[in-house]
Amino acid sequence: MNRRNRTLRQSPALREMVAETQLSASDFIVPLFVTEGKNIHEEISSMPDYHRLSLDNLKKEANELWSLGVKSVLLFVKVPDNLKDDACSEALNKDGLMMRSIKAIKETQPDMCVMTDVALDPFSPYGHDGLVKNFEILNDETLKVLSAMSVLHAEAGADFVAPSDMMDGRIGTIREALEQNGFTKTGILAYSAKYASCFYGPFRDALDSAPGFGDKKTYQMDPRNRTEAIKETLDDVNEGADIVMVKPAGAYLDIIREVKNAVHVPVAAYQVSGEYAMIKAASQRGWLNEKAAIAESLTSIKRAGADLIATYFAKQYLKNR
Ligand code: PBG
Repeated sequence: MNRRNRTLRQSPALREMVAETQLSASDFIVPLFVTEGKNIHEEISSMPDYHRLSLDNLKKEANELWSLGVKSVLLFVKVPDNLKDDACSEALNKDGLMMRSIKAIKETQPDMCVMTDVALDPFSPYGHDGLVKNFEILNDETLKVLSAMSVLHAEAGADFVAPSDMMDGRIGTIREALEQNGFTKTGILAYSAKYASCFYGPFRDALDSAPGFGDKKTYQMDPRNRTEAIKETLDDVNEGADIVMVKPAGAYLDIIREVKNAVHVPVAAYQVSGEYAMIKAASQRGWLNEKAAIAESLTSIKRAGADLIATYFAKQYLKNR
């Protein structure tokens, strides 16, 4: 033998020296679920140890995350049923929970990069990401609401808007609206390759936003497709996306790598609620070592090519590593 591959694996020091992938706090985008009320810290039943937070607790969470080195949060709001209507008008309420959430975080952590979810599902009685007419998800009509919503988020202080709806043309339309309204510094994180995935189940529990009819397959991507993911992503880059995202992450590592090789903007990947729930559930039963499973899943997403990772595990990972 003139080369032994085990040489570089023989001690922790050597393994550390030659490790090709490092995770750091600034890699993480932390999704946060916001709800109305005071001092609310409600566990999501299918996401053990993850909570819906009222604004006061949202501030505390942002402070804790910042102290751990996290630079970015991604906000989602839970909208009470009585505020959901066909026009998704609550999405355009200037004093809506999203606007108050953005301001709350900026008040307490002005340097935190605040990203906001842009899609209609929390506001829609149908739980769909676009406006609905005759059981159809409308594209172009939805774009108007998404761009107005993005401008409101920017006005409230959001650094990035993150359209997760998968309507055609949304990145270009939102970019134009931001420009026209003078928000030339607001970034767009595009959910570019977002698949119609069963792994979003627990998230829909968190926001009570499961689709009331049908599924999301007319707008989210078919899990069987790879080439299409590249096309979607290149379209978003051309329309003005600053960061692109692949979602889910764990079952789509091949897509993350291909996207990474195809674009020259940062690539994010979203380790979604179902990925979180699987690791939590198996760990609770003693079937997986939780800490190791978290580290390995996140490292693999990074190794696949993700520059940034949206994950519910960020805090746990950073506290226990
Ligand atoms: C909806 C949205 C979803 C997620 C983020 N934004 C669910 C869906 O598309 O139905 C999923 C996130 C997760 O599962 O963690 N716009």
